[in-house]
Amino acid sequence: MLLLDKVVVVSGVGPGLGRAIAVRCAKAGADVVLAARTAARLDEVAREIVQLGRRAVAVPTDITDDTSAARLAETALDTFGHVDTLVNNAFAIPSLTNLLDADLDAVRAGLDTNVLAALRLTRLFAPALAEHRGSVVMINSAVLRHSRRPFGAYKMAKASLLALAQSLATELGPRGVRVNSVAPGYIWAESLRQYFAYLAKKRGVPPQQVYDETAATIDLRALPEPDEVADAVVFLASGLARAVTGQCLDVNGGEYHH
Ligand SMILES: NC(=O)c1ccc[n+]([C@@H]2O[C@H](COP(=O)([O-])OP(=O)(O)OC[C@H]3O[C@@H](n4cnc5c(N)ncnc54)[C@H](OP(=O)(O)O)[C@@H]3O)[C@@H](O)[C@H]2O)c1
Repeated sequence: MLLLDKVVVVSGVGPGLGRAIAVRCAKAGADVVLAARTAARLDEVAREIVQLGRRAVAVPTDITDDTSAARLAETALDTFGHVDTLVNNAFAIPSLTNLLDADLDAVRAGLDTNVLAALRLTRLFAPALAEHRGSVVMINSAVLRHSRRPFGAYKMAKASLLALAQSLATELGPRGVRVNSVAPGYIWAESLRQYFAYLAKKRGVPPQQVYDETAATIDLRALPEPDEVADAVVFLASGLARAVTGQCLDVNGGEYHH
């Protein structure tokens, strides 16, 4: 129970990693504040957490909107009285076109959700986090470790998110607040399963072959599952990481070494 009676706020509770982070934190003993725009999904994950014996509050939120984000912070504090960890997981995939051709408004929209919204939420929660020597975890990506096309706009956003995490670690460290990042590579969840099925169909091979070929490029020969990535978040939020700040933990089965 690494997070017993801690309160964790998760932004971007979608079907993949966001849900896994919320549930793994609850399994580690935390009460959880769930934020995303789709209320029905938040309610579903909240029910799952309550069944685990922890408390959950679903707060439909658009993190790019000042008023909506402020309401999230108020609701979290009104409900639980304190906050120990903020996990900035929400993201919008920016246009997957080469940077030379990308629409600048689409690039800007990616930065709004991936970077500025994480800063907005961190500012809102900073006073509460400082009261409890809390922490922030930014969910980054293995796109940090390569520059392949057509991920230029995504890499711009995630590289900026890493810079944000490092600078916030310096700004918030004197107040006792740690700020770290987790950079997943492949995540073996529904969206990747569907993509591999599509690739397999296109090539006329079984989906397992696409999985095996991909896994062969990874030291551990397996694609990390959402819970395995979420457990790195639990570690960074916990007291075990009390002297760790400004760091990025890559969870990629050894696909890249950093
Ligand atoms: N999937 C991968 O293979 C992979 C690989 C490496 C890194 N990552 C990183 O892991 C994180 C999670 O990715 P995931 O694919 O597993 O997604 P997810 O956690 O299943 O869902 C993320 C959720 O963010 C929410 N969101 C987007 N814009 C928002 C906004 N303006 N306000 C509030 N919520 C918003 C969306 O829900 P609503 O539409 O309901 O708001 C979306 O469902 C991301 O930071 C991503 O960059 C993913």
